[in-house]
Amino acid sequence: TDYETILVETRGRVGWITLNRPDALNALNTQVCREVVAAASAFDSDAGIGAIVVTGSERAFAAGADIKEMESKTGLDMLLGDHFGGWTQFAAVRTPVIAAVAGYALGGGCELAMMCDIILAADTAKFGQPEITLGVIPGMGGSQRLVRAVGYYKAADLILTGRMMDAAEAERSGLASRVVPAADLLAEAQKTAEAIAAKGLPALYAAKAVLDGALESSLAEGLRLEKHVFASLFDTEDQKEGMAAFREKRTPDFRGR
Ligand code: HXC
Repeated sequence: TDYETILVETRGRVGWITLNRPDALNALNTQVCREVVAAASAFDSDAGIGAIVVTGSERAFAAGADIKEMESKTGLDMLLGDHFGGWTQFAAVRTPVIAAVAGYALGGGCELAMMCDIILAADTAKFGQPEITLGVIPGMGGSQRLVRAVGYYKAADLILTGRMMDAAEAERSGLASRVVPAADLLAEAQKTAEAIAAKGLPALYAAKAVLDGALESSLAEGLRLEKHVFASLFDTEDQKEGMAAFREKRTPDFRGR
């Protein structure tokens, strides 16, 4: 497939998507959205892929939605054209996704990272929702996901001032899963993705589904979901293999069924 704004490659069971618009600090325009969604969907339907990494450059994960593309739009354009709607498909990918963030993750860039399951941050990472400085507000889920990630008061501080926070503050706040030296970011992302991809796909999909459930439902509903999804895994070969491997003191060989 010919992509123009991203680089796509497979390393073992890990699918890599690298945002590649260096002249615009990886600003997310409609074409980037279309290409990222297509690449992620292709990885998602490939049983040979057990984890996806999304990354940018050393300077920028992504500096936001493309301001130049949005500038002249009307409210009706945004609404009827469902300008950011494609990203919903990205957030719905079943395969675990790691955001490997170096440099700027601002606006839509921060929101893209928050659509991923793990945010691995280089010590150079800078997160923020600066939309207020452009006269708008977060539009790709930031107002909702950031509150859930870091709590109301930190989210309000970022969204109302538009300031950036560094990697240490992002980790302290619970936005970054982990911070690593910038030079190690991609290797750490691959290592983490491999650790995930070595597990069984049914259990990975199940884990992601119940994690999503935790953000979307009441405790009682979430616990009901967990109970059923947990039980369903006992009908997989991977569960028998995982538990047999434990008893036999060996590494499990998951087949993804
Ligand atoms: C389009 C962008 C861009 C963006 C950077 N560029 N961010 N183009 N959309 N979001 C372009 C610049 O115009 C410039 O190209 C080139 O990338 C390099 O950027 P510079 O500003 O020259 O770099 P620097 O001085 O190092 O500053 C880096 C920066 C700054 C602090 C990240 O670029 C910046 O503030 N960017 C905008 C961040 C932002 O507001 N993001 C939120 C967008 S709204 P040229 O060709 O001009 O030199 C959003 C949510 C959408 O994401 C939902 C609401 C509707």
